Amino acid sequence: MSGANGTQAARGAHGGREQDAVRVWRQHAQEAVLLDGFHALKHALRFGADVPVALAVDRAAALALAADLAPDVAPGLAARLVEVPDDVLRALVPRLHPTGVAALAGRPAVAERLGALHRTDRTTPVVVLDQPRNLGNAGAVIRLAAGYGAAGVVTTGSLDPWHPTVVRGGAGLHFATAVARLDVGELPAGPLYALDPEGADIRGLELPDDALLAFGSERSGLTPELRERADHLVSLPMRPQVSSYNLATSVGMTLFHWSTHSPHAPRADRG
Ligand SMILES: C[S@@+](CC[C@H](N)C(=O)[O-])C[C@H]1O[C@@H](n2cnc3c(N)ncnc32)[C@H](O)[C@@H]1O
Repeated sequence: MSGANGTQAARGAHGGREQDAVRVWRQHAQEAVLLDGFHALKHALRFGADVPVALAVDRAAALALAADLAPDVAPGLAARLVEVPDDVLRALVPRLHPTGVAALAGRPAVAERLGALHRTDRTTPVVVLDQPRNLGNAGAVIRLAAGYGAAGVVTTGSLDPWHPTVVRGGAGLHFATAVARLDVGELPAGPLYALDPEGADIRGLELPDDALLAFGSERSGLTPELRERADHLVSLPMRPQVSSYNLATSVGMTLFHWSTHSPHAPRADRG
């Protein structure tokens, strides 16, 4: 085929692929997790997420970004990514990410996530957020947990740790750790270290690999129920007139402290 007819046919095939992708998006949009932007999609693919549809306003630019920054996911991206016009993608997402990329991923099954959390041979801690309020904080904590190779992040209370704003804050790293909401009574087994400014100085302790590391809510700290379940109260060094650190910052310091003495913590030199 050549000339005008060939061009039309190519446009038709392209339009068909675009329509199919938009149809798949609409089918999955209700229950799937929105991956907002190139980096969230990159992390999700890297950590084995099921991604039924991925869209870009400039496919070539997104693939060039992958070749440059994430060659390991480039083939998976090339196989999935469908180019759609800017206005089509804007109609599907709450706010178009600057990279012009969006995708949908299936949530890992509950049984799979709970299985990872309840493993008795865990070699890295589980982070527990006791009734967190701020969605951005929860996302930042999931990103920290993924970076440190934590076994999972559990939230208690009403916040949904799979809320789109949490997923955005977590940069697609929900798929690199196990994320679930549980009641205090359902927490995995293991020694529970609860972080509180009134506790013992963390610098005098080694946090075990199977620890649960629990943090209180931004507004009111640890709940009485969580304190009851705690085996140890631990504090982060802080001068007297300062009342507390930000929640995600506290998680970062605590995981860093754990990493300084655990053979299972990731290495910084990646050598
Ligand atoms: C913003 S703080 C909560 C402040 C809250 N107004 C309170 O009464 O505790 C959120 C959580 O971060 C942790 N945190 C903050 N600063 C800490 C510190 N110096 N030592 C230990 N944990 C700390 C605690 O788990 C705390 O519940």
